[in-house]
Amino acid sequence: MDFDKIFENNQHWIDEKLSRDKDYFRNLAKGQNPDVLYIGCSDSRVTAEDMIGAQPGELFVHRNIANVVPNTDINAMAVIKYAVTHLHVTDIIVCGHYGCGGVKAAMMAEDLGILNPWLRSIRDVYRLHHDELDAIEDIDARYKRLIELNVLEQSVNVLKTPEVQEAFRAGKLAMHGFVFDMETGHVIDLKFDYQKILDEIMEIYRLS
Ligand code: CO
Repeated sequence: MDFDKIFENNQHWIDEKLSRDKDYFRNLAKGQNPDVLYIGCSDSRVTAEDMIGAQPGELFVHRNIANVVPNTDINAMAVIKYAVTHLHVTDIIVCGHYGCGGVKAAMMAEDLGILNPWLRSIRDVYRLHHDELDAIEDIDARYKRLIELNVLEQSVNVLKTPEVQEAFRAGKLAMHGFVFDMETGHVIDLKFDYQKILDEIMEIYRLS
């Protein structure tokens, strides 16, 4: 990243936007009304907007290492609360990606300091699905499946919040689990059946 170019790049971007629509920034400044909450990895290669063609104002974004949604993380919980209750998003995307360093680190027996409690959430995903994962002999395939299952379990964590339960039951909210394959550029819909998952876990996690 050439820091000498940052403001030059910014001016080019402004010029480009204004050449298409002279009111672009005036309209942008009026407020946001995004339909989608996107929860993804902080990985520099997995940009939320670019890969799905979203424009400024269309995605409310939360990114962290390995797209984890710990129920005690005030940051993630506040983002979900604000997006669902106040912005009234209609869709939540949890997007993982193959080659995720956070997930890989969680597969290793290594003390990583403050990263340990964060990555423990992913070790928990492994424990929940260890029968399926241990049956996959190929390590790369197992790693990919853990990445997919991490998307599933973090989505389940989203479903454990009362505002999401309420909106989901009212048919006002849909959940989507995606994985980005950076070797091909494709975003893959994992097609998790969230209604079925919600029905299965509701007895335990119902809050509203
Ligand atoms: Co990642």
